Amino acid sequence: MSRLPATSTDTQTRAPRPEALDQSRLPAHVAVIMDGNGRWAKSRGLPRVMGHRAGVEALKTTLRLCSDWGIQALTAYAFSTENWSRPGDEVSFLMTLFERVLKSELKSLEKERVRIRFLGDLDGLPDGLQALITDAMERTSENQGIQFNVCTNYGGRRELVRAAQRLAERAVRGELSPQSIDENHLAAELFTAGMEDPDLLIRTSGEQRISNFLLWQLAYAEIHITDVHWPDFDAQALTQALLDFQSRNRRFGGLEPIKS
Ligand code: IPE
Ligand code: IPE
Ligand code: MG
Repeated sequence: MSRLPATSTDTQTRAPRPEALDQSRLPAHVAVIMDGNGRWAKSRGLPRVMGHRAGVEALKTTLRLCSDWGIQALTAYAFSTENWSRPGDEVSFLMTLFERVLKSELKSLEKERVRIRFLGDLDGLPDGLQALITDAMERTSENQGIQFNVCTNYGGRRELVRAAQRLAERAVRGELSPQSIDENHLAAELFTAGMEDPDLLIRTSGEQRISNFLLWQLAYAEIHITDVHWPDFDAQALTQALLDFQSRNRRFGGLEPIKS
C-alpha cells in the first residue's frame, strides 16, 4: 500500500509527525476499538448518544493523523454484531449517525485520497446506509492514500464462520480439496482479504478484551490499552500508543526481535 506525496490540491496543512517517533518503525496498519463513548458522555452529564457524536470527531482526527504521519491503514470498530442488543433508540441513533457522517464526509475523503471500505455483514444494515456505503466504497476504490476500514455489523466469529462456509462451498463444487485448505485460503475468504494484518491494536477506555474484533487478523498484533475514552483520543494519545508500539520486541514465536 503506497501513498502518493502531498499535492498542491491539499488544502489543509499536514500535521507534523512527533519527533519522538521513529519513522522507520511505524506500524503499517493500526486497528482501534473505539470504546468509552457512553462513559465519556456520562462523566459530563450528557446522554450516551452525545458520546457517539463526539466519537465521530475523534475518528476524523485519528484518520487524518494516521494519514499525515504515514500509517498506511487504519481499521476502526464502529458497530459489532453484539451491539444490536443495545436499546433500540441507541442503535437507531448510531445507524442515522453513520448515514449522516458518510454523507457529510465523502467529499473530504475523496479529496484526501482515502480508500474507505466497510467490513462486516453489510446486508444487515438499513437500506439507506447500505446504498451510501456502496457509493463511498466505489468512489474511493482507486484512491492511493490511507486505507480506512470501518467495521460495521462486524463480528470476528461470524466472519470466520462465513469463511468456513465459503470454503466448504468451494470444496463441494470441486474447486478445492479439503486437505489443501491452508491459512492463505482462509485469510482470502475474510472481509480483510488482500490486506496486511494489523501491527497495533489500540483499545480505549480501559477494558482488557478483544470483544469479537478481528480474531484471526490480530494473532500477532501488539496491544495498547489506554484509559482515555474514545472521544478524548487525540494526537497525544495516538503518539503514546505509537511510542508504546515502538518499545516492543516483536518475536513472532522466535527468539530474536523481528523488525516490523
Ligand atoms: C463505543 O462506545 C461505541 C460503540 C460500541 C458503538 P460505547 O458505547 O461502548 O461506550 P461505553 O463502553 O458504554 O462507555
Ligand atoms: C466494542 O465495544 C465494539 C465497538 C467499539 C464497536 P463494546 O462496548 O461493544 O464492547 P464490550 O461490550 O465492552 O465488550
Ligand atoms: Mg463499550
